[in-house]
Amino acid sequence: WTPFISSAPGKAILFGEHAVVYGKPAVAASVDMRAYALVTPRHDGLMHLVFPDISVDTVIRSSDIPSKEQTEVLLHPGDVAELLPPSLLKPEGAGRTAVMTFMFLCSALLTQQHREQGFSICVRSLLPVGAGLGSSAAFNIALASALLRLNGLVDRADSTEERELVNKWAFKGEQVAHGTPSGIDNSVATFGGFLQYTKGTAPVQLGSAHYLRVLICDTRVPKSTKALVAGVRVLRDAHPDAIDSVMDAIGSISLTAARMFRNARTPADALQNHLADAVRLNHALLVALGVSHPSLERVRDVAAAHSMPAKLTGAGGGGCALALIPPSATDGDIESVIRELSVEGIRCYPTVIGGCG
Ligand code: PMV
Repeated sequence: WTPFISSAPGKAILFGEHAVVYGKPAVAASVDMRAYALVTPRHDGLMHLVFPDISVDTVIRSSDIPSKEQTEVLLHPGDVAELLPPSLLKPEGAGRTAVMTFMFLCSALLTQQHREQGFSICVRSLLPVGAGLGSSAAFNIALASALLRLNGLVDRADSTEERELVNKWAFKGEQVAHGTPSGIDNSVATFGGFLQYTKGTAPVQLGSAHYLRVLICDTRVPKSTKALVAGVRVLRDAHPDAIDSVMDAIGSISLTAARMFRNARTPADALQNHLADAVRLNHALLVALGVSHPSLERVRDVAAAHSMPAKLTGAGGGGCALALIPPSATDGDIESVIRELSVEGIRCYPTVIGGCG
């Protein structure tokens, strides 16, 4: 076989974060900042893992990979750690989970022939890690599709059946990394485009007829999704009626946006105008929930001064904000926003949402 690359995008929640925890609909989109896995054959039975973005450079022997039968009986994919030599589990954090995911997926998907032959895999990602942009889902999809392609179960992953298979295995990778993830990140990144998601139901694809230019702004302020979700719960316990109204309002914004994305004939101008209002409203409601942060407000102010509506994306409390770039924005406008925010340590990525999975 010859070397190949598989890749997957990140994700951003466009509307509905936090309200989704209370059963309201959310809309998420693929973000065209991708993870790329380059796979090349070896002939010495070794697997060389190179993930420079998370400081992994490890050589693994085939005999270290658990058998399919061993991982099949695990109660949870994350329990794979029990089957691995302790020396492989040294790197803490993202590096450790990446190695665990690799071992879990290899045990399930790698053929005897590829175990004996070995291969090198290098994953590079343009997504900041831990910023709420689905970097681990992009990594897991790139990895799962590479291994499925190696064993011949997936070719170019361009049919729905192939994508569903990639998504199924990437979700197991997400379980290794996050315990009990909702599955939204890997679904958006596998299928691309826009997706409506309600807890406990299958995600609904809203089509990929729209590509929106956005500026993703990473405040680089660390956030804890768990703590922010808990904070909202405390607020709701104290003010149930008021907070439920906020959640309902956020849910309606998601539904209106979903309707627009589903209707591919919505003219670009109308879409931009409606989305601009929806972005402003959703952000204001998130402020009411107490999940914004001065750095996110700063992004909102600077972007708004250049006619770009912005909102926090994901859990808030730091992390990322997303600003829509209207068609009327000039390169100068975009550069000004990037310059003004970068002097304050905020990293901006001009990109597109709604692109392919
Ligand atoms: O922190 P992120 O970007 O993965 O987003 C969390 C989204 C929440 O709605 C706040 C939590 C959740 O589980 O949906």
